[in-house]
Amino acid sequence: MNHTGTPHPEYPMSDAMVVEALGRNDYPTAIARLESLAAPGENALIDQFNLDLRIEAHRHMRWPELSGGWPAEVQQPPVPGRLADIPAAALDVETLRAGVLGSGGVIVRELLKPSQAEELRQGIDRVLAARHAVANGQADGADKTWYGRSRSVAGGPVQFGTLGANAPADSGSVWAVDSPVMALKLISLYRQLGLPALLHDYFGEDALLSVKKWVLRKVKPNPQQQAGWHQDGRFLGDGIRTVNMWIALSDCGGDAAAPGMDIIPASRRVIHETGTQGAAFDWTVGAGLVAEIEKTTPAENPRFRPGDALFFDEFNLHRTGFAPHHTAYRYAVESWFFAASRAPAKQQPVLF
Ligand SMILES: [Fe+2]
Repeated sequence: MNHTGTPHPEYPMSDAMVVEALGRNDYPTAIARLESLAAPGENALIDQFNLDLRIEAHRHMRWPELSGGWPAEVQQPPVPGRLADIPAAALDVETLRAGVLGSGGVIVRELLKPSQAEELRQGIDRVLAARHAVANGQADGADKTWYGRSRSVAGGPVQFGTLGANAPADSGSVWAVDSPVMALKLISLYRQLGLPALLHDYFGEDALLSVKKWVLRKVKPNPQQQAGWHQDGRFLGDGIRTVNMWIALSDCGGDAAAPGMDIIPASRRVIHETGTQGAAFDWTVGAGLVAEIEKTTPAENPRFRPGDALFFDEFNLHRTGFAPHHTAYRYAVESWFFAASRAPAKQQPVLF
């Protein structure tokens, strides 16, 4: 859509209800109408249009900030110095708050059913194969339904789009929005899980996804490698309200054959110094400083089963947990949610 609310001429979408809703910037109604016309995966053009509208919606809508106090007070972490660890049935705004703000993170066991995790894992393989085919000029029509950059994504080729023909077919990171069918299936899954209401309660206002912090990942085992310790708050800007839901789609971490995550279960809301004490990059926290932090809060490397999730926020210090015994790939979906009134425009908020 352009700013006047006229559909792009390329779209075969002259549906009167969609056009009328967009004429008054009612994106939710337009999107709901598109969803009534086709389920994700049924019609590639409708999927693409639906996703384009979700990316464009943020700047056309009003996002009132509903509550003042942030972050909410947490009296007592479930187990101080350890990540909270709860079954999916116990996930509510209280346990989310206690875990993320009180313990530095909360593992939610079996958030997804095995069949849901398996479907997402297969989807990631399909997207990576499609990206490789597109980058090498070998894509067929089916590939293009699984991988294609939305016209609504601003800024041209960026980060994951610059890999071009060098993009590996067997591993890597892909923005969820670069696969409209995957993005829409995930949104529908997040709704089934009740995330819009849960996150509304958590933030005190609506939550949004984003183009740049919503990522499908397939990590290759790399026994030689040490990933960089980092906090996402180092890049996300000030004054935001955010929470990340990282869903493991492989058996990973601990003694498993695939890399999990090394995580410091600390609730301190500070951004640590980067680029010093042995740090390999200007955005990573050096080994010397991490060793100092670990004196009071040792890192954990939890075992995750496919479908287990981890929620944490921008202050969490973590890295991919490579280890010498790894032989298997690790699949995951990372979804950073932002309180809508403070969603950083440069991350390109996405309605969900
Ligand atoms: Fe991170």
